[in-house]
Amino acid sequence: MKILVTGGCGYIGSHTCCELLDSGYEVVIIDNLCNSKEDVVDKIKQITKKEVKFYKGDLCDKDLVDEIFSKENIDAVIHFAGLKAVGESVLKPLLYYRNNLDSTLTLLEIMNKYNCKKIVFSSSATVYGSPKTLPIKEDFPLSTTNPYGSTKLYIEGILKDLYISDNEWSIAVLRYFNPIGAHESGLIGENPKDIPNNLMPYIVRVATGELKELSIFGNDYDTHDGTGVRDYIHVVDLAKGHIKAIEHICKEKGIDYYNLGTGNGYSVLDLVTTFEKVNNVKINYKIVARRKGDVASCYADATYALDKLNWKATKGIEEMCKDSFKFVKNSNKDLNN
Ligand code: NAD
Ligand code: UD1
Repeated sequence: MKILVTGGCGYIGSHTCCELLDSGYEVVIIDNLCNSKEDVVDKIKQITKKEVKFYKGDLCDKDLVDEIFSKENIDAVIHFAGLKAVGESVLKPLLYYRNNLDSTLTLLEIMNKYNCKKIVFSSSATVYGSPKTLPIKEDFPLSTTNPYGSTKLYIEGILKDLYISDNEWSIAVLRYFNPIGAHESGLIGENPKDIPNNLMPYIVRVATGELKELSIFGNDYDTHDGTGVRDYIHVVDLAKGHIKAIEHICKEKGIDYYNLGTGNGYSVLDLVTTFEKVNNVKINYKIVARRKGDVASCYADATYALDKLNWKATKGIEEMCKDSFKFVKNSNKDLNN
């Protein structure tokens, strides 16, 4: 079976390509490299010892997407490509709406044309807005607080309308919680170009000495130690969830929604102390004001994914902290050589 992976050079996409290849799927990637590097393709080949076809280009380029479908005989698509920085989306909403919506519409139109009607879509726990109760279930009310989140919600709506119009589609919408960690090889992972906004990439930069100290956004939340609680999930566990979703949409038509999280909440301080312990480093931090838009706690009820997809996260917070650091140390070593 041949899978088109949009955004396959990115953080979650690259790990998913490895899992797909290891499970015997053929993989074709399209990525414009706006937030990734081409050498990831070689790393994927190195890890899996399998071939991958790579198209460098934009998913908004209809001619290119048409060419890929005409040449490749694609059976199903995993759609990761998109811009994902919340703060940037507030400053540049048109860029986010254009890129995330246009790319998705182009993809869906071409899929329709070639009668390829199986898609797994990367959504986010951000579509739950500020949940009233925890853990979060898939049928909770949906809302967003920023343009990035709105693109996810709109695309979920587009996919729903598409299925209503044509019941031949099989669609799995995966709502990720907080992916961290990296492949155990240390060859692929997450290392943002700019100063990171998310917690783990920031902690790692403090550990390597590139940044002086972590600012912890508030210690007066109603949580066990006052700092924000999130459902961190190892990116390899998350990638495996996509294999289960592909297997499922190949068996059943319909549209369905799945939380991909561990169901466990850890605070900022839990993550910092675990990172220090497993990596034997010191993370300097200071407490600062709350970040606008943050919620106190957010974690999944992941039982639906277990029941329907037979998927469950297995890797713990210690492994996540170890693997995140290993990847960045490894890539810094490559840069210095
Ligand atoms: P990423 O930025 O590492 O990967 C996205 C990839 O898509 C990049 O390689 C980028 O170059 C590519 N891309 C973007 N726009 C494109 C376009 N128009 N044409 C072709 N390629 C394009 O991000 P990620 O962390 O791997 O996230 C993957 C998906 O999962 C995104 O849709 C993101 O919104 C979603 N998601 C991520 C998180 C997270 O915390 N990482 C959480 C929830 C949801
Ligand atoms: C953020 C996004 C969310 C997106 C997710 C994954 C916001 C408001 N939300 O979620 O839409 O889906 O990333 O990309 O941006 N923290 C610090 N110091 C830091 C960074 C973070 O204390 O330097 C804290 C935060 O306050 C939070 C926790 O660490 O309590 C996790 O933050 P982060 O990694 O940014 O993820 P989310 O806020 O869950």
